[in-house]
Amino acid sequence: MVKRGTGKKEKIIIFDTTLRDGEQCPGASLGTKEKLEIARQLALLGADVIEAGFPIASPGDLEAVKLVARNVKGPVICGLARSNKPDIDAAREALRLARRGRIHVFLATSKIHMKYKLRKAEGEILRLARQSVKYARRFTDDVEFSPEDASRSEREFLFRVLEAVIQAGAKTVNIPDTVGYAIPRQFGQLISQIRERVPNIHKAVISVHCHNDLGLGVSNSLEAVLNGARQVECTMNGLGERAGNASLEEIVMTIKTRKDVFKGMYTGINTRQICKTSRLVSKLTGMIVQPNKAIVGQNAFRHEAGIHQHGVLRKRTTYEIMRPEDVGFGGTSLVLGKHSGRHALEDRLRKLGYALSKAELDKIFLRFKELADKKKEVFNEDIAAIIEDEILVVPEIYSLEAVHTSSGTKTIPTATVRLRKGNEIFQDAACGDGPVDACCKTIDRITGIQCELLEYSLKAVTGGKDALGEVNVQVRAKNRVVTGRGASTDIIQASAKAYLNAINKLLFRKPPKVKGE
Ligand code: KIV
Ligand code: ZN
Repeated sequence: MVKRGTGKKEKIIIFDTTLRDGEQCPGASLGTKEKLEIARQLALLGADVIEAGFPIASPGDLEAVKLVARNVKGPVICGLARSNKPDIDAAREALRLARRGRIHVFLATSKIHMKYKLRKAEGEILRLARQSVKYARRFTDDVEFSPEDASRSEREFLFRVLEAVIQAGAKTVNIPDTVGYAIPRQFGQLISQIRERVPNIHKAVISVHCHNDLGLGVSNSLEAVLNGARQVECTMNGLGERAGNASLEEIVMTIKTRKDVFKGMYTGINTRQICKTSRLVSKLTGMIVQPNKAIVGQNAFRHEAGIHQHGVLRKRTTYEIMRPEDVGFGGTSLVLGKHSGRHALEDRLRKLGYALSKAELDKIFLRFKELADKKKEVFNEDIAAIIEDEILVVPEIYSLEAVHTSSGTKTIPTATVRLRKGNEIFQDAACGDGPVDACCKTIDRITGIQCELLEYSLKAVTGGKDALGEVNVQVRAKNRVVTGRGASTDIIQASAKAYLNAINKLLFRKPPKVKGE
């Protein structure tokens, strides 16, 4: 274990491999322009090293690394290469215009990889590793070496390889848990042993590169940091080969949030850029971020349970260990759903600008709970509609003066409508699919609001032939949905009144907006 508590500040280098290992994620391929856009955002994020690709892999990759090297200043730009000359030459060529370029050479050191994949004995691996690092050093001072599958490699052999590549000039030695096999305690011990057993280790930075096959990529990386690793290789949103790589945002925010554990350690990441970067990567790779993903998932700062919402309203830190603003997330949000309680509803109503009496609140809460049982989430528009139905008296901006319709088997349904607005009278006529439709179309012509009738229902509220008919409608205009109600012994009149009632609501009330949203 590394001794700490000396008050010394220690930077943890963030090596982002979204554009290389992240892009190896099945289905996440990126074009050169998209890679450049992401690289520019990673520079704004403050990544120390950007692994922009594997230049020998394809002409597209070569171009992308070149483009990033030429255009992105600030971070070190890195290209990956196997331990052979053509790979290293391609990386050198791709990085020619980089202000600071790094060649990352790798070679497997585990028995299984050496025997079945490489078909090479230990001596040959040792020779190739040393030789390729030396060759890469001809082109840059900044050479990184990765013994692939290090966590499954025989320790003594691994230590010898590390010593040899440092001697050959590697400035960073990266310890990959290539298949995500390690568990935190073991991986931490491995880093500790490397520090103890590799005699020249002080001449290189120890890096780690953890995959997430057992969901332990971040835990293994952090345990390695606690044991002396000073560079972490990671990807945005945890993208990467198979189950992905350790996620950048989780590593960075853990180090920042748990300063009590990661004493004196910090990263150069501007955490306020995290969500923006995550969204860009998701958009350009087409890889959707799961809603409950730590730090960047859309639910990461949303609370639904009544008890939690109550707690957050009293003191945010009861249920939040990070400030959403610190990762560039809009803000804490209390989701109104079936688990929410009165406190959250009251808070939302206040923010929407409604000051209700206790009796009114009781009514609204009841309706809210009924709706929440049917809907996953109750939105501001739903609350406004409930308030309109239960409490608000909507002024009659337009009132119905007269309506006349003609329809029949051989007549085109037509309506003539006369409306009053203050002292003015408006009249117009239109055809429709039936008398009610013709009425609605005429009203649209007069008011100038184009509505879509979403729901229409008619019921008799009294008995007998002269029963009073009540019409309820739901209409949508400009992305707003409102309801309307009208009653009359004439069902066409009831329909026109209901439709007009909905339009008056649209005119009376602007869409609700929560203060501060
Ligand atoms: O997972 C791995 O071992 C790698 C190396 C190339 C570093 O991606
Ligand atoms: Zn990898």
